[in-house]
Parts: sequence; C-alpha cells; structure tokens
Amino acid sequence: MIDGWRWDSTLFQGSAAYYGRGRLPYAPGFAETLRAALGLDGRGRLLDVGCGPGTVALALAGFFQEVVGLDPDQDMLAEAERQRERRGITNARWVPGRAEDLPGAVSGGFRVVAFGQSFHWTDRDRVAAAVLELLEPGGAFVHLSDLKNPPAEAHSSPLPHPAPPAEQISELVRHYLGPERRAGQGTLPNGTPGREDLVLARAGFENAERHVVPAGQVVTRGVDDLVAWVFSLSFSAPHLFGDRLEDFRRDLHALLRQASPDGRFAEHLPPTEIMTWRRPR
Ligand SMILES: C[S@@+](CC[C@H](N)C(=O)[O-])C[C@H]1O[C@@H](n2cnc3c(N)ncnc32)[C@H](O)[C@@H]1O
Repeated sequence: MIDGWRWDSTLFQGSAAYYGRGRLPYAPGFAETLRAALGLDGRGRLLDVGCGPGTVALALAGFFQEVVGLDPDQDMLAEAERQRERRGITNARWVPGRAEDLPGAVSGGFRVVAFGQSFHWTDRDRVAAAVLELLEPGGAFVHLSDLKNPPAEAHSSPLPHPAPPAEQISELVRHYLGPERRAGQGTLPNGTPGREDLVLARAGFENAERHVVPAGQVVTRGVDDLVAWVFSLSFSAPHLFGDRLEDFRRDLHALLRQASPDGRFAEHLPPTEIMTWRRPR
C-alpha cells in the first residue's frame, strides 16, 4: 500500500456525478488498439477493476461475451448502470467491491482484467496476485492511463481559447484544503506510486507490451465542465470541502471567469498509454 496512507471509502465520495462530464475521454481509438493488441474476438470475459462510471468496460463491451465492472463506490456504479442503459449495452454488469476483495468478489475465468487509472489506489502486490488467479492462461492484465508529459508534437495545433488555469486551480484547492494532497480521510504528500512493471513482474506476469494511442485533438470546455473536472478528482472531491463547498464552488467560478471572460477554454486531448502483461500459459 501507499506509505503513510490508508484507503477509505470516501476517496471519490461525491465525484461520480461529475466524472463523465469533467474527465477528458481516453484517446479515440484506444479500444481498437486494445482489440488488435490482444486479438479480442467477442469471446471471453473482461473484468474492469475500479471501473468508475464504466469508462473502460462499456468501451470494450463489444469485444467480449460479458464484461464485469468492480468498484467500491456505489454512486460510480449507479452512473455506470445509467450509461449502460443509455448506450443499450446488454452484456455488462456491476459488482460493488474493492480490488482487494479479489479473487473472491467475482467468479473467475477472465480473458482480460483491466485497470483504468485505478491500480495505484490498490494494494498492488496483493491485487496483482489475485488477478493472476482470475485470468485464463495467456490472459492479459491491462493498465490504462493518460500519457504523462506527452511529446511536443501532440500539442502542435493552436488553442482557440485559454487553456484551463490548472496551476491557479491547484492554488485555490491548496488554499481551502492545505498544502498536502488530500485523499479520502488522509493525505498523500508523495502522490501515488508508479513502476507497475516491477509489481507485475514480481507477481509472475510476463510479455510486457506498451502502446501509446495518439491524441492531441482540441477539446473546447465550458466553466461547468472544468468545475466538474475539479470535483471528479480525488484530491478535490466534494466531500473534502465540508461546509465550505459552496464557498469553494463560488471562488472556482470566479477564478475561471477571470481566466476566460467568455467562459470558454480549450485543451489538447492527452495520448493514452496502455500497458499489457500476460499470465503465463
Ligand atoms: C480515477 S477513477 C477511474 C475510473 C475508470 N476506470 C476510468 O478509467 O475512467 C478511479 C476509480 O477507482 C476506484 N477505486 C479506488 N480504490 C479502489 C480499490 N481499492 N479497488 C477498486 N476500485 C478502487 C474509485 O472508486 C474510482 O471509481
């Protein structure tokens, strides 16, 4: 686990309603990249761990017989179910629980187990061992995230509006919540861990592959989209502000209006980094 931090169920409390609107999507084409990389053909089952509002599970549902999303946040699962219905997807279901409840939380036999920006919140060594048990021989562990520090060519086209004032927003969050990054009821002074490659190797996975799905498209965002983005993040989730939530919302609106008087912002969609590992046959 993360040194000095203890997981609790308030980690994303209040974020679900903002998630779909606030977060930028993965790079268009990420699902097709995974289909090609893993030879997905409509058979087998996918487990999406920390599925949130079903982002990965619903995007990949057409490539599997069944997809199962696991998440401890009931509001996220309710949102996933709303999205499933809206998109008319009939082979997805949701299971409440933590990754640490695996392998028991679901019945085994998965072709793919995916983590979309969620593995870092788990007890990774324990969870990787449980995933190994749940996968069919040759099955894949998939790790998806926004590419950190994308190369300059991904940002070649000019932005038609100001970029979101990320540093000023962070300052405002720090003003309300203190200098250390918050997460649930605790703090994460050193952020969340990386180097999942070492964790997966320790667990006995092999054949690591890395795919970067290019993006860079210009996305236009309004004030409410950016407010939703801020509340979708664990370190500025609504519960953290307590009875100062409306004060923070007011100050955030004012900051955004000052940064862009017509309330429009633009940014480049980040590339998506996909890492896969295989369970030995
Ligand atoms: C950043 S969101 C990612 C949602 C979605 N996978 C995506 O790619 O957009 C992280 C999700 O992980 C879930 N989560 C946090 N800790 C978890 C744990 N220990 N086990 C399973 N899910 C967890 C949260 O409830 C949240 O829905």
